Amino acid sequence: MVGVPDRKSLIVGNWKMNATHLEAIQMIQKLSYRLEAKDYDRVEVVVAPPFTSLRSVQTVIEADRLWFGLGAQNLHWEESGAFTGEISPVMLAKLSVDHVIVGHSERRQGFGETDEMVAKKARAVANAGMRPIVCVGETLEQREGGEAEQVVVSQVVASLARLDPEALGSSAIAYEPIWAIGTGRTALPDDAGTMAGIIRETVSNKVSSYASEGVRILYGGSVNAANIKDFMAKSDVDGALVGGASLDPDSFAAIVRYWV
Ligand code: PGA
Repeated sequence: MVGVPDRKSLIVGNWKMNATHLEAIQMIQKLSYRLEAKDYDRVEVVVAPPFTSLRSVQTVIEADRLWFGLGAQNLHWEESGAFTGEISPVMLAKLSVDHVIVGHSERRQGFGETDEMVAKKARAVANAGMRPIVCVGETLEQREGGEAEQVVVSQVVASLARLDPEALGSSAIAYEPIWAIGTGRTALPDDAGTMAGIIRETVSNKVSSYASEGVRILYGGSVNAANIKDFMAKSDVDGALVGGASLDPDSFAAIVRYWV
């Protein structure tokens, strides 16, 4: 269709609080040895190491001319100031970071991040010329209580409230059911596909159909080389946010190469 943005597959490795900067250098190099030019044609590959490894990984990416995008796992929405321990959008943008994960459930649950804070972060990311990956997802209790859809829709609406349609169209939304993260238990691909469809419809209804065509919807939660194909087969799933399996270059490369 004319004017509809192309949604290239996006696979993001969220390294969480793992890897010193020396280990990170090894990981990115090993990953690069396992991928070929045609993989990057098919899939946009992003790695999100901890803050302390960003500079080292950026240097390897630039020196070796690797095709990886660089992601950060969090940020503060202010540009600078008295915010001890925080990292600003401009600091990340200057390091050639192009994606920033915001509102990961580990931050919502463990560090008190609200939808309002996530919305401010998402906007700050876009304003600095980077692309947010906004995470949403229900707890097991909410799923078992039949509330999953309502919870996810309300998170989507509130977390994206400050993004303009254009920025939203080049963002990603990661659907990560909390009970599937790091547990080895995944959502059924059908359920993930259905929820991705609901998320896209919500963006279409609340923002614009253009934004809904462009936004990439990722599934996250115990994704591995054996199950990635089943998720990617769903028409509204455009990629994956991968935690544990992204720490092993062999596994992560196999996930990126799901299409082979
Ligand atoms: P997991 O983590 O792949 O280890 O379940 C996913 C995530 O938290 O982004």
